[in-house]
Amino acid sequence: MGISIKNLKPRIKKIRLLDVGNPVDRVRYFPKAGFNRFWGLFSHDIGIDLGTANTLVWVRGKGIVIREPSVVARHKKTKDILAIGGDAKKMLGRVPTNIEIIRPLKDGVIADFDAAELMLAHYIKKVHVSGTVIPKIPRPRVVIGIPSGVTEVEKRAVADVALEAGAREANLVEEPMAAAIGANLPITKPAGNFIVDIGGGTSEMAVISMGGIVVGRSIRVAGDEMNEAIVNYVRLKYSLLLGEATAEEVKIAIGTSRDEKEKYFVARGRDLETGLPRSLKLSSSEISEALSETIREIVGNIVETLEETPPELVSDIMEKGIILAGGGSLIPGIESVISEKTKMPVVVAEDPMSCVVRGCGALLEDSALLEKIRLTRGV
Ligand SMILES: Nc1ncnc2c1ncn2[C@@H]1O[C@H](COP(=O)(O)OP(=O)(O)OP(=O)(O)O)[C@@H](O)[C@H]1O
Ligand SMILES: [Mg+2]
Repeated sequence: MGISIKNLKPRIKKIRLLDVGNPVDRVRYFPKAGFNRFWGLFSHDIGIDLGTANTLVWVRGKGIVIREPSVVARHKKTKDILAIGGDAKKMLGRVPTNIEIIRPLKDGVIADFDAAELMLAHYIKKVHVSGTVIPKIPRPRVVIGIPSGVTEVEKRAVADVALEAGAREANLVEEPMAAAIGANLPITKPAGNFIVDIGGGTSEMAVISMGGIVVGRSIRVAGDEMNEAIVNYVRLKYSLLLGEATAEEVKIAIGTSRDEKEKYFVARGRDLETGLPRSLKLSSSEISEALSETIREIVGNIVETLEETPPELVSDIMEKGIILAGGGSLIPGIESVISEKTKMPVVVAEDPMSCVVRGCGALLEDSALLEKIRLTRGV
């Protein structure tokens, strides 16, 4: 008996989140296992870090294949997509009124559903363009990292976006967990691992032991907030309005949280008094001052998380140190500020901006671990 695509379609379209470990759901969906194997032959398994600032895609067997800003350029009326990723980011602040530059995620969660779906669909399609004889059909099994503090509705939105974008199965895992796996921490052992992921929209801190988060926090204060702090600082001190992209450039060029040899960066903005463009030479000590409040808030939350951690785990962390991931960990000196306040050793993970996606990729290879730690499975 043949299976017609027509019969298959409604099942695939129907989106639902399954509670992990619910045997009833597993029995109900058992027949899908056969289809899973079928689609598995034709599509890749992929890991996705759908970040506020950057989207990374991992393809099983290949590694990281996409690393692009989470930005979409869209025509306002026709809704036609003009650019996605790096090309769209270059247009930020430079487009006419009929074009909108959208960041589909805000504070780690989906703010524009359509744009997020288009962006993901674009990447899913892109990784399935292959030069092999057997064409790849974009119906992947995906593992996606989401912030640990999100609501059920926000979780559902991520799963829906992935499924609408073509995924046949969307496994959601908590970002700090994925980041810890990506940073090669032994998360399944009965020992404390402290991971801090400072991203664009959220900073996540978690103590993980035996495959679970023992204590954790997710705050909506991270890289974006630092950019805003620079904009505010320059506006108040110099009556100069910087664009968001310029503020980020300044932060990446001379942002620091320690006293070191002074560095300078010339930024261009609009003078609020004359309305005309003006250049300004900013120093690293000024930027350090601008960033201090945001960094203090992040570090304060790390200290509080540590205070809530059971003593046995604290002694493990004392030995191994606090591990930093995410783009925010690239600010020079942030590790010494954290170390000073927590009295713990602090280490920045290797390639900190890819920890989450590497963790998602590792989970694609380890179904047993995925089954244990995933939050939900959308099909
Ligand atoms: N060298 C650097 N110095 C300081 N900040 C940096 C540097 N490189 C990147 N960043 C910042 O890191 C942030 C992006 O980090 P990352 O890609 O980890 O975030 P994300 O995963 O997209 O966001 P989230 O996890 O919050 O959803 C941006 O705010 C960016 O400005
Ligand atoms: Mg992130």
